[in-house]
Amino acid sequence: MGFGDSLKIISGSASLPLSRQLSAELSADLVEVELSEFADGELYVRVPNGVEGENLLLIQSTYPNDKLLELFMLQDALSDSGMRSLTVVIPYFAYGRQDKRFSEGEAISSRAVARRVEVDAARVLTVDVHDKRVLSYFAGTAIDVSGMPALSRYFSENGVDMLLAPDENASRHAKVVGDLMKVPWDFLKKERIDSWTVETEEKALDVKGLDVAVVDDVISTGGTMASAARILSRQGARSVVAGCIHGLFVGGAEERLKVFDDIVATDTISSSHSKVSVAPELAEAVRGLS
Ligand code: R5P
Repeated sequence: MGFGDSLKIISGSASLPLSRQLSAELSADLVEVELSEFADGELYVRVPNGVEGENLLLIQSTYPNDKLLELFMLQDALSDSGMRSLTVVIPYFAYGRQDKRFSEGEAISSRAVARRVEVDAARVLTVDVHDKRVLSYFAGTAIDVSGMPALSRYFSENGVDMLLAPDENASRHAKVVGDLMKVPWDFLKKERIDSWTVETEEKALDVKGLDVAVVDDVISTGGTMASAARILSRQGARSVVAGCIHGLFVGGAEERLKVFDDIVATDTISSSHSKVSVAPELAEAVRGLS
């Protein structure tokens, strides 16, 4: 690894389980962080022990909103610590879906985040950022790491015959996982009506008697996934698994996802569905940095 022996990991509170896994993968120590809140809810952040001369990996998913603020505070705490370098790892890059101006006058939210993050970072790593366009908002080095091999490990261990993308945008994910597993993949077409409502076109799929995994980058309300699952069940799939990298599971998602036999997410966002870690993929990417 290009960092020699001096690599240390600092975890924000959104990414502790993944940071511990990565610490083990890279044999890099975790640095202590003190976090608390003032009476008015403002955050207090301190890195109490010196990190002078160290190469640091700061790991923090930026969901929900206060975790984004915590990341900024941690970066500031480190900014004049005398560290050798700072690599910021954002396993779930929130606001990645607002990656352009869909209507005149909108904020390009992912650009706003990128502009602040890069002030105190030598480089940035993300995991399956919603659109690679987001990487172009960083003036310096920004690398997106695919967590899809982690999902393919889980599906292989649990016997999946076929991959399905719930919309055209996710077809690249179904292809990657399908190719890794050497099983066929297909995709559906979806129209989003609003945050809570999607319409998925019915399409003839060759799924009778098969164990099928529906794969996407993000599960938010679960509407996209549930709509695909209903089509698969109507067409005779034997079992249906929902798989995503980033499991937000908001606003009734658990209820909507009851149509699935199993739900799997990675540890970019920690939840009861985080059944597989992207630490091996991130570790490999970190080893490739100089
Ligand atoms: C959107 O483009 C993403 O890839 C997901 O399909 C979307 O975020 C899923 O949202 P929901 O679970 O609310 O349908």
